[in-house]
Amino acid sequence: MSETNVEANDSRTPAIRVMMMPRDTNAHGTIFGGVLLSYVDQAGAIEARKLGCARVVTVAMDSVEFKHPVFVGDVLSFYAEVIKVGRTSARIRVSVEAERFEPPCEHEPVTTADLVYVAIDEHRKAIPFAECRIRDAAEAAKKRK
Ligand SMILES: CC(C)(COP(=O)(O)OP(=O)(O)OC[C@H]1O[C@@H](n2cnc3c(N)ncnc32)[C@H](O)[C@@H]1OP(=O)(O)O)[C@@H](O)C(=O)NCCC(=O)NCCS
Repeated sequence: MSETNVEANDSRTPAIRVMMMPRDTNAHGTIFGGVLLSYVDQAGAIEARKLGCARVVTVAMDSVEFKHPVFVGDVLSFYAEVIKVGRTSARIRVSVEAERFEPPCEHEPVTTADLVYVAIDEHRKAIPFAECRIRDAAEAAKKRK
């Protein structure tokens, strides 16, 4: 698959899809990197939560690369995948693809980032995934009673 023209009937499910608005622009009229990072962080957190712990926080955001500019009207898909699971932390890779606003509305990879999330307990201390899955399940069962 070439970098542009990523298949429109892609079967992957993005963690988030969002259309960029004029409020999201920087001084150059393209989309502000901080806006993209905010969505990147959300997408990563959504994926990290699938590991079974409700409370996760971002401890690191590494190797962010803005490969191509993003424009108002582009529809961005944020794909997230687990790269590595440790004791209390998980590394998630987020790949962002733009469906361009201007015809022919090509799909193009625009940003990638690796992030690390840590599962935390109610006191905001790191907790092993194995332990917090049990705790969360017990908490949910208690609430159902
Ligand atoms: C996340 C936090 C609870 C971790 O506390 P800590 O005392 O550093 O915990 P630890 O040293 O035991 O590290 C926990 C895990 O994170 C990993 N980690 C810590 N710092 C890291 C870094 N800079 N890069 C990658 N991994 C890191 C550790 O390797 C460990 O992973 P493992 O258990 O899978 O081996 C604490 O740093 C914190 O609260 N940070 C603020 C989080 C936040 O507010 N984020 C923004 C909003 S979501």
